[in-house]
Amino acid sequence: HAADAMRTDLMTITRYVLNEQSRFPEARGDLTILLNNIVLGCKFVCSSVSKAGLAKLIGLAGETNVQGEEQKKLDVLSNDVFVNALVSSGRTNVLVSEEIEDAIFVEKAKRGRYCVVFDPLDGSSNIDCGVSIGTIFGIYMLKDGIEGTVEDVLQPGTAMLAAGYCMYGSSCTLVLSTGAGVNGFTLDPSLGEFILTHPDIKIPKKGKIYSVNEGNAMNWDAPTTKYVQNAKFPKDGASPKSLRYIGSMVADVHRTLLYGGIFMYPGDKKSPKGKLRVLYEVFPMSFLMEQAGGQAFTGKERALELVPTHIHDRSPIFLGSYDDVEEIKALYAEAA
Ligand code: AHG
Ligand code: MN
Ligand code: MN
Ligand code: MN
Repeated sequence: HAADAMRTDLMTITRYVLNEQSRFPEARGDLTILLNNIVLGCKFVCSSVSKAGLAKLIGLAGETNVQGEEQKKLDVLSNDVFVNALVSSGRTNVLVSEEIEDAIFVEKAKRGRYCVVFDPLDGSSNIDCGVSIGTIFGIYMLKDGIEGTVEDVLQPGTAMLAAGYCMYGSSCTLVLSTGAGVNGFTLDPSLGEFILTHPDIKIPKKGKIYSVNEGNAMNWDAPTTKYVQNAKFPKDGASPKSLRYIGSMVADVHRTLLYGGIFMYPGDKKSPKGKLRVLYEVFPMSFLMEQAGGQAFTGKERALELVPTHIHDRSPIFLGSYDDVEEIKALYAEAA
């Protein structure tokens, strides 16, 4: 029966992507090769994270990145592995990494059709205490054979053709969408393969969890303040929501995707555009949420319709269960 079939008819991520690829008649297998290289990067980071404490990989690298953050050793190591894996795939044209100030333009000999925007290590502040962290990526496709420019990656999230994240937690889980729903794969370390474990993920229409850094409450605007107030002191006699906040976007979003609820990183008086970066945090997670039946909102518009003006642009983000995001949209509409 089905369970046995799953066990002996292994649906690896490679096989899944190949199946997906067959949806595009003109496909040449390029996306499969690209994703395989991203998967290699994730396997490497997974292995590095699990032995970080032992391999002296915790702690600071001694540099500060363009975000003004002190880079961790694993930030730099992960970034370098992904850059090498992506360039050597021969399928990329422009790369944007959280950890590199300018976009990378791949040399002609190794140039392909895809632009990859990525956060090589998300949740760096959680590395040294062993709390779940992750990698986030988004993929755009360019016209064949052109020399990519920055404009080619300053595209709205609606132009993304694939997005995903890998979470390095109790197990290593890769969640991916190529535009036809969301699927979760778990790394079987004995095989070195990601196996389909969460087919066709759909986020619950409404949740009982809100996820936000309450430490910023002093600077929140009225709609966000009101939403959180309603979550804690519901007027209609409903029971209050639970607060869950891990501080790694990948972990907070993964829980939201599976359990339902809302994840928020609002803008506030101190940082009107919030903290999360549009290209490699907001867009990929918004893409996945919409593919799973949820939604993603910036406080002003549908997150995927944002057009970034800079590769490290930031935006406020409210994403998760369809009904929960509707509530925050109504509060912002009232205040507009
Ligand atoms: P990164 O480690 O890639 O710089 O991202 C950290 C982000 C994100 O993972 C998380 O949701 C957010 O920072 C947490 O920010 P606060 O500590 O301000 O809540
Ligand atoms: Mn960072
Ligand atoms: Mn991040
Ligand atoms: Mn990061």
